Amino acid sequence: MAHDYMGLHTRLLFAVLASGVLRVAQAAQPTPDPSRLYAPCVVCHQLNAWGTSDGNIPNLAGQQKHYLEKQLARFRSGARVDTAMQVVAIHPTISNQSTDLVALATYLSRLDTNPHPLAGSGEHLQAGLETYTHICAACHGADGRGGEGSSVPRLTGQHYPYLRRQIEAAAELHKELSPPEMTSALRGMPAPAKDALADYISRLGTSEALLGGSSTDRESLRYIR
Ligand code: HEC
Ligand code: HEC
Repeated sequence: MAHDYMGLHTRLLFAVLASGVLRVAQAAQPTPDPSRLYAPCVVCHQLNAWGTSDGNIPNLAGQQKHYLEKQLARFRSGARVDTAMQVVAIHPTISNQSTDLVALATYLSRLDTNPHPLAGSGEHLQAGLETYTHICAACHGADGRGGEGSSVPRLTGQHYPYLRRQIEAAAELHKELSPPEMTSALRGMPAPAKDALADYISRLGTSEALLGGSSTDRESLRYIR
């Protein structure tokens, strides 16, 4: 699995380097057109920004603007490292300080989210629902839309394989957030529970009924910026 993923990266990197799309953004004007800024990303994230159908490259469409800005800045500074995105991070679209990451984030946040992300096996969805409702919904929302104006990302519309990887890293992702009991709960979570959680989340956009209309406690959004 990890091996296939790296193989995919290598093939995609070749695709990026071999294609002429990189030059499109280099020619961008001082006031950049966001769709042109997005041009070098299409080869991987796709034109609609729904990610790849194998689910390894994430959906960006409809993602929270503030979260996108933060992640792009982290790729630029090297705080977030990924084999594929490393190449993108040194590309002028991202690395150039004058590039308007806000314009790019705004553009992506306004696109329609992937309505049919790749889901998991469908096993133990009830367990996924329970974990999600008890631990995750407080911040990400019962509907998984994240927080407007905060750095809490939308999870709905995201592919199972990408979510599964991020959930593996979740204790790390969430370590600056309180309460610490949550990060230890994530660290100690057995693999099948993580599978169920990622699977449940990948179906959030289509499983409203499962949620039973529960209301969301967004109190915790207050201290996350
Ligand atoms: C060579 C393929 C490739 C290209 C080109 C590429 N990306 Fe990515 N991108 C990825 C992969 C793979 C990930 C997942 C990284 C990870 O697992 O941490 C990713 C992750 C991201 C994320 C984080 C998403 C999240 O939910 O946290 C953002 C934002 C992003 N890319 C934006 C862009 C933008 C903007 C461009 C164009 C300037 C771009 N990417 C070009 C492969 C690519
Ligand atoms: C206290 C608020 C909070 C809680 C509770 C929380 N998260 Fe998060 N989550 C965040 C924030 C903020 C980020 C963004 C971290 C960053 O900036 O990298 C995040 C990031 C993520 C990401 C990465 C999304 C992406 O596009 O790469 C995933 C996946 C995720 N959370 C899943 C979960 C799951 C599953 C749970 C429950 C077990 C959970 N979160 C509980 C606040 C929270």
